[in-house]
Amino acid sequence: MRSVRDIRIFQHIPILVRAALNVPVENGRVVNDYRLRRALPTIRHLAQQGARVVLISHLGQKGTETLRPVANALGTLIPSVSFFGETVGEGARAAVRDLAPGTILVLENLRRDRGERANDHSFARELALLADVFVQDSFDTCHRTHASIVGVPQFLPSYAGLLLEEEIQELTRALAPKRPALAVIAGAKFNTKEAVLATLLGTYDHVFVGGALGNDFLKASGQEVGKSLTSQADEKDIRRLLANSKLVLPIDSVVVSARADGSFPSRSEARIAPFGDIKNDENILDHGPGTAALLAGLAAKAKTVLWNGPLGNYENGFIDATNDFARAVAASKAHSVVGGGDTIAAIENLGLLPRFSFVSTGGGAMLEYLARGTLPGIEALQ
Ligand code: 3PG
Repeated sequence: MRSVRDIRIFQHIPILVRAALNVPVENGRVVNDYRLRRALPTIRHLAQQGARVVLISHLGQKGTETLRPVANALGTLIPSVSFFGETVGEGARAAVRDLAPGTILVLENLRRDRGERANDHSFARELALLADVFVQDSFDTCHRTHASIVGVPQFLPSYAGLLLEEEIQELTRALAPKRPALAVIAGAKFNTKEAVLATLLGTYDHVFVGGALGNDFLKASGQEVGKSLTSQADEKDIRRLLANSKLVLPIDSVVVSARADGSFPSRSEARIAPFGDIKNDENILDHGPGTAALLAGLAAKAKTVLWNGPLGNYENGFIDATNDFARAVAASKAHSVVGGGDTIAAIENLGLLPRFSFVSTGGGAMLEYLARGTLPGIEALQ
């Protein structure tokens, strides 16, 4: 895989950079610019040598969102950023031609065009027509087989950006951890985590399954989980992993009873339920203090901690176990690798991000890279 450092930049060539500009936007304002700051080294590297830098990215799921506020936020971090409200076509090509050397253009949300998700051949070619060289720096989407990930490299000389290189280096290192090693995998949907759990159980000493994923394991081990969120996974697959003695399950939970009107209960209505004491109308929303202490003990002894996914129902304020574990890892001497948007936001809110050794900008991409050791977007560059 060739590096962005290998590009010989001459005559102010236009360079198309697939960047990770998928950041949270509320009421037309970027509310967390962490990913934008991580995109800066590649953008600076190219702009400082006089390239015309053309940034493409997706934003959100719907395909209606605009990258305009993201371009504005980027403009507060680096000079000479402009925005053009189309992604491909003659107008976009003209906007690229008009760019002065060393300046940066953000084009409109890739997902406004159905060709992006469909990896449509002609959409990929249209993107490629925008520039002479392609740089992939969006590690967070390298698990997607979209046009800007696997399509464009078929048309242009393609290179890995500095962020992508760093992600690959750090996550490859995490696959051969210094031991004792603790992995904490949380969130929901067993099917999207099964492969990474199987890999980590091979190389880590303890693999804790938390969040809604933990509910799947508690249920498969014969525990009552009441009305808690579980996935539709085949219990046979979960039981196969349960048999591994390195697997660690929650030992207590923060639970609430379902409200008659179906509304979401608050934290003050919760109780701590020890292992085996969850009633059939209750809902597990966080891990209890016993589990937090168990994890803190494992983190204190670990030389490596790998963590992806919040431990409780973060969106609804059940954040104690996540915060406790973030503090425990920050206080440990372990080499710590963390990823996933909500997990990073939680750690950032505590002001503890600088205490982590490596923060991956990938959520699903991080898990898939750890499971397979590569991703479609990386293979497309090779
Ligand atoms: C992410 O935020 O995890 C990445 O940007 C990928 O976004 P997606 O899940 O919408 O493809």
